[in-house]
Amino acid sequence: MSIIPAGINEYIENHSSKAGGILDKIERETYLKSIYPRMLSGNLQGRFIAMVSKMIHPKLILEIGTFTGYSAICLCEGLAESGHLHTIEINEELKEQHTIIFKEAGLSNKITTHYGDALEILPTFNLQFDLIFIDADKINYSIYFEQSLSLVRKGGFILADNVLWSGKVLQEKNDKTDKDTMAVKEFNDLVQNDNRVENVMIPLRDGMSLIQKIC
Ligand SMILES: C[S@@+](CC[C@H](N)C(=O)[O-])C[C@H]1O[C@@H](n2cnc3c(N)ncnc32)[C@H](O)[C@@H]1O
Repeated sequence: MSIIPAGINEYIENHSSKAGGILDKIERETYLKSIYPRMLSGNLQGRFIAMVSKMIHPKLILEIGTFTGYSAICLCEGLAESGHLHTIEINEELKEQHTIIFKEAGLSNKITTHYGDALEILPTFNLQFDLIFIDADKINYSIYFEQSLSLVRKGGFILADNVLWSGKVLQEKNDKTDKDTMAVKEFNDLVQNDNRVENVMIPLRDGMSLIQKIC
């Protein structure tokens, strides 16, 4: 899932740090066991997310869309000493896997996984987050953005994945049967026209937007 030519992508990978350890293990196991392994962030995006987190040094992180836990562990790399990450996943079948890998990563007491629909769970939070990672179903991205804006502190950051949606965002005509593409385009327009935020779109893998709440 990359819009960048394979050769350039390989060059970028070869000139970026390697995660190693538990993250490589999760990646291998996800590719062996999961039906949609490409949903996992992977090395390059994982290193980027980890770097962003290290720059922000957040006390509280929220992730929407845990999958096999890869990005949650990357995000925790920058967590402040007393910090905590909350992550939301609709697929309860991943619960056992999460328990095992978060323990192996030494993060059991740093990560709380909430199982259920993010649309229902997000309004129940009474916390102010420093960093929010949106990486769940595209159809609800615009709602997640609105909810994230009320959950992130002023000056805090929202990261959103898949904002280029394999390049389909360039489709001029709105194909009403392609609901995901329409939702990603709507989300990108919403962010671009919102004067409560500053935003930069990064052509990393399937595209990421880094959004700061400024007021
Ligand atoms: C792209 S994957 C997340 C990948 C993960 N963040 C990573 O980088 O390794 C999206 C995840 O969101 C979950 N998801 C989809 N719809 C959801 C919803 N409404 N609420 C919570 N999780 C949802 C899916 O089950 C899937 O595990």
